[in-house]
Amino acid sequence: MEQITIQTDFAKDTLEGLSSRAKYLSSKYFYDERGSKIFQDIMHMPEYYLTDCELEIFNTQKQGIYNEFARQQAHFELIELGAGDGLKTKILLSHFLNYKADFKYTPIDISEEAVKNLVTDLENEVPGLHVNGQIGDYFDLIDDFNFNGHIKKIILFLGSNIGNFNEQKSLDFFNQLRTVLNPQDQVFIGFDMKKDPDVIMKAYNDPHGHTAAFNLNLLRRINDELDADFETKNFKHQEVYDPQTGAAKSYLVSQIKQKVIIRNLNQTIWFKAGERIFTEMSQKYDLNMINDLATKSGFSIVRNFSDRRQYFVNSLWNLKS
Ligand code: AVJ
Repeated sequence: MEQITIQTDFAKDTLEGLSSRAKYLSSKYFYDERGSKIFQDIMHMPEYYLTDCELEIFNTQKQGIYNEFARQQAHFELIELGAGDGLKTKILLSHFLNYKADFKYTPIDISEEAVKNLVTDLENEVPGLHVNGQIGDYFDLIDDFNFNGHIKKIILFLGSNIGNFNEQKSLDFFNQLRTVLNPQDQVFIGFDMKKDPDVIMKAYNDPHGHTAAFNLNLLRRINDELDADFETKNFKHQEVYDPQTGAAKSYLVSQIKQKVIIRNLNQTIWFKAGERIFTEMSQKYDLNMINDLATKSGFSIVRNFSDRRQYFVNSLWNLKS
């Protein structure tokens, strides 16, 4: 067999996931240019309640949030991991600016497109704001953060992005984050809560087909970037929700027995009819789970902000002293 060099993380992770016994792909690769656009469609559809809930929390409680952020130090830096289009964060940023708050905003996203658009957009819509956009995988970037001691940092991890991590990965993430934070720093995390399973299923298996297109786009990306021949019509989006654990999982199900050639990986991948690729975890939480996560990773909850239906919680954490 000829020796090949796997160049990118995407190539390496795709090879690992598709040659594993239970096939999987990482949801972090959803966000190429097409994927980021489809995610916008998802966020704007009424079934995807997460957007509206977090908007409601920010709109109705922005003053309470500001009071907490500015409590110990009037001067702070907001670092947003996975900022995307910043639609919701903009509400807080404008409010803080109206209050003549002294702060800087550092949005980080894995999508170059998203960061560029966000920076341009903020220059127009929130003039006077100090923005410092960064492109990258936030897991890798955490260690590079130049965290000097004097300025209070607030790490924003909104929109239930945390839901993409399983329990172990969330613990690793917050433990790693804790090591670069100073005693006055805080984290502000968006958690999607357990609720009526029908509501969750409609958000992740929507009648417009946006979520299916989002999921299938991963195969198109493999076709484009790794020279593969996935027939997307031979795969179907599937959502499974377990109300007990709160795990909502997305799969792509092979509709037939088929083989796919991935030329850049020098691989032929076989699928049985009905075989699935696990593509995304969207974990749902309850208040005990949030508290456990904070405690187990060295944080304590300062305050939880919730919408009127208690569908979503933005939880503000301090380092445990
Ligand atoms: C961006 C991870 C918060 O899990 O709800 C939306 C992504 N996947 N619909 C989520 C997503 C399918 C989303 N997050």
